[in-house]
Amino acid sequence: MADVLYFNGRFTTTDEPVLRVEDRGFQFGDALYEVFKFLDRRPVFLADHYRRLEHGMRHIEITAPFTENEFVAIVRELLDRTSFAEGIVYVQISRGEGERAHFWPENIAPTVVLYTRRFKFPDALKKERGIRVVTTADTRWQYCNVKSVNLLGNAIAKKHAQRAGADEAILLADGFVREGASSNFFAVKNGYLVTHPLDDHILPGVVRDRVIGLALASKIRVDERPLREAELFDLDEAFMTSTTQGVMPIVEIDNRVIGNSRRGEITAQLQRRFDDLERA
Ligand code: PDD
Repeated sequence: MADVLYFNGRFTTTDEPVLRVEDRGFQFGDALYEVFKFLDRRPVFLADHYRRLEHGMRHIEITAPFTENEFVAIVRELLDRTSFAEGIVYVQISRGEGERAHFWPENIAPTVVLYTRRFKFPDALKKERGIRVVTTADTRWQYCNVKSVNLLGNAIAKKHAQRAGADEAILLADGFVREGASSNFFAVKNGYLVTHPLDDHILPGVVRDRVIGLALASKIRVDERPLREAELFDLDEAFMTSTTQGVMPIVEIDNRVIGNSRRGEITAQLQRRFDDLERA
């Protein structure tokens, strides 16, 4: 069934082919995206996602096609028109469309796409059992802090994980752990958390930020430093965070068991608190 689609100022459905072949998102990956969740017809952490999108637009010099209030109004109407109560919203803003050339014209108008989709979020059993991950080289570009649609490196890493029977790939570079192919990575050791600091090697995850806030509020120490690859196999617990997976326990890395191969105590506590926060 077709989903509700917003395209450049009007509503239609995903049945309508709206993009043109010379859109710069299609030809140059010259575009940003966001994925956020909605529950009970309510967008989750919308302001956080808008803030990241706005930073990205400033970073790559795309003129914002809307104010935050206009964006919120579009999202509200999109959800009003959607027949289901929970799922995800995909947003993409490309620099726009024009005759193919690497240099873009100064007054190009951005292409704006938003649509809703049903999504099977992890159930209680999956959240308890957790996932297996494999490590692989981070081959991505320099500005991983910008949520651009240049996801080839991520897609190749993810496919590698799938072929190895795992759910996620953990990206390594220069002997350090960065993040997952579509998630942020957290280690738990001696009762505190370790996660990569915010820089251009990782995406500033919305869930990452919320989980750090929850940990600090519970007096759990958080070290934002790159974890050495060698430390990976001496952890008490590990988990990943993302919009679609929330806080997801990691029970195996490269076929080696983490902790006692079950969701750890601190992971379970943060997962519960995060689920409550999402529904609040
Ligand atoms: N991915 N790191 C990468 C590389 C990601 O692609 C994502 C999210 C995250 C987690 O960010 P957040 O907590 O804001 O969802 C970290 C989305 C969900 C995706 O591409 O579908």
